[in-house]
Amino acid sequence: MDAELSQAVAAIRTEWASIPTVGVILGTGLGGLTSAMHVEAEIPYHRIPYFPRSTAMAHKGALHCGEMAGVKVLTMAGRCHLYEGYSVADLRLPIRVMHTLGVRTLIITNAAGGLNARFEPGDVMVIEDHVNLMGFSACPSGLTVDLAGAAGDGEKERGRDGEKDRFTESSLSVSPSLCLSISPQSAYDSALADAALSAARHGNFPCQRGVYVGVKGPNYETRAEYRAFRRFGDVVGMSTIPEVLAARSLGMRVLGLSTVTNVARPDAPQIVTSDEVVEVASIAQPKLRQIILGVLGFFSW
Ligand code: HPA
Repeated sequence: MDAELSQAVAAIRTEWASIPTVGVILGTGLGGLTSAMHVEAEIPYHRIPYFPRSTAMAHKGALHCGEMAGVKVLTMAGRCHLYEGYSVADLRLPIRVMHTLGVRTLIITNAAGGLNARFEPGDVMVIEDHVNLMGFSACPSGLTVDLAGAAGDGEKERGRDGEKDRFTESSLSVSPSLCLSISPQSAYDSALADAALSAARHGNFPCQRGVYVGVKGPNYETRAEYRAFRRFGDVVGMSTIPEVLAARSLGMRVLGLSTVTNVARPDAPQIVTSDEVVEVASIAQPKLRQIILGVLGFFSW
């Protein structure tokens, strides 16, 4: 275990002794979901060495340790983004910490813009797959390579074992064998997705399913981008993919949930504001709460 990982893990261990099995990441405007938890310890990110700190609005920036639906969970109330200047390795650290503490299933939520014309603001979408336009790639060993030049996990521009590895990893990342690390179909677990959809049916509200398109941001899309991205997927957002790839490289199962905060209408464009995104996300919170509690109650962990 490297020093950063062990110091971060030790800081959490001094405040909370339980073994979590599920990790939850709460996206923009969704921090209130911690009220569904019995919180045993709340640790601000700044008290955890090397943990990235949320600078985005509506991201609280604290790790909530405790129980939800009888399951030991670690919840990140607030996440960090590439657009805040963090590297892929920075965003990967909290996932490695969760994994070291015991987490084997990760529930990742986000606020996203709807691309699918049938979606409405306030909808929830179960992520079935993603399109990564964030400017980095993930290699089977978990090493991430930022296409802008900086690589993840402190290995900078070299591969895990030097130059030769770097090219092997990079070629793998563009060949079908990338699937060796990410799974033949999708990074997202179909049993968890089915459980989420049935929790929504049980709660009597519609739940969409579809593809998340990830961009680096922080700008919202141009009309031309919205039009183009409609061919790629159903929602667009600025997060999630770094954490999903980190979790998959550690063998975790992943459930991804998007809240649709605005729907792109390229031919009748409206200005998207971050206040509106936060407001609609918080309106959708009860649905997400029901889905997460339903999923936690569905399995024996
Ligand atoms: N684009 C990108 N990210 C977003 C959006 C959007 O329209 N809405 C909420 N997050």
